[in-house]
Amino acid sequence: MRVLGIESSCDETAVAVYDHAIGLLSHRIHSQVAMHQAYGGVVPELASRDHVRRLLPLVREALTAAESDKESIDAIAYTAGPGLIGALLVGAGFASGLGLSWGKPALGIHHLEGHLLAPLLEPNPPSFPFLALLVSGGHTQLVDVVRLGEYRILGETLDDAAGEAFDKTAKLLGLPYPGGAALAALAETGRSGQVVFPRPMLDRPGLDFSFSGLKTAAWVVLRGRELAESAKADIARGFEEAVVDVLAEKCRRALTLTGHRRLVIAGGVGANRRLRERLAAVASQAQAAVYFPRTEFCTDNAAMIALAGCLRWGAGMREGVGMSARANWELGSIGV
Ligand code: KG4
Ligand code: ZN
Repeated sequence: MRVLGIESSCDETAVAVYDHAIGLLSHRIHSQVAMHQAYGGVVPELASRDHVRRLLPLVREALTAAESDKESIDAIAYTAGPGLIGALLVGAGFASGLGLSWGKPALGIHHLEGHLLAPLLEPNPPSFPFLALLVSGGHTQLVDVVRLGEYRILGETLDDAAGEAFDKTAKLLGLPYPGGAALAALAETGRSGQVVFPRPMLDRPGLDFSFSGLKTAAWVVLRGRELAESAKADIARGFEEAVVDVLAEKCRRALTLTGHRRLVIAGGVGANRRLRERLAAVASQAQAAVYFPRTEFCTDNAAMIALAGCLRWGAGMREGVGMSARANWELGSIGV
């Protein structure tokens, strides 16, 4: 079973080939970050047009690198949602057209299922069931991953996603878009405890999050002031520590609640070093093992989509065959 994976839900065009028996054979990615930087955020129409330009050359590259051709591909898996609708339609149309011409099925995959399964691309993958913290630019969720295709949302953000809060605060600090990684780098030089941010939702029971207040708190500290680089670094450090504290405490609570012994971190913010260290400590205290995908598989990629397609198809799950693109799509409602 060999699957060609296609990801185009936002500002990365990515293609990968995954083989059930061998593992990941190739993956290629083109980031549009430089193109959107001038606008301070993703411009949906530009994103769609660039996916159109990039997809075919990337498919050729990925197939060549995997020493594969259309005969050796059994199915095509593409991201059907959630995401930018124009960008999704490019990938869905492309994958379905390719499937028709090759005589192979095209399978629509939920983008977040891809993120949740990304640690399975690594050498020591977690087995089901596990607890997953999904932290990206668009989502912050704690998910009980019962088995392939069964995902129970335990808690989620009521407003901004963690990555969004990183990006917006980075923008206030004058860092280039997307600022999450740049803010984290600046925080490395900042001093702990100099600027203290609130810890939203920690005083309430439950597993939901709220991050929009942190961005406002950063704005209040920064407004109208010319700050030295070292003062900005202290703010970045204080902000990062607040986000990490909240995520770590909610993970601790979720591990206690579910009794799971495996904690998976998925999504772009999972690349954050301080978060990784704290979650490793939280897991260790709960006698749980922690699993991080490598950084390139934390952020958007097609390897996770090809893998999800391969697992689903291999398990006889036929939901999602055909062409579909959904801007909004609840993870808890995906079929099998
Ligand atoms: O999963 P992803 O690539 O895209 C979405 O599906 O959203 O996540 C991107 C997010 C961005 O908000 C980015 O700023 C954030 O992940 N990010 C980080 C770091 N690296 C990427 N946030 C904090 N620390 C990092 N090192
Ligand atoms: Zn993503």
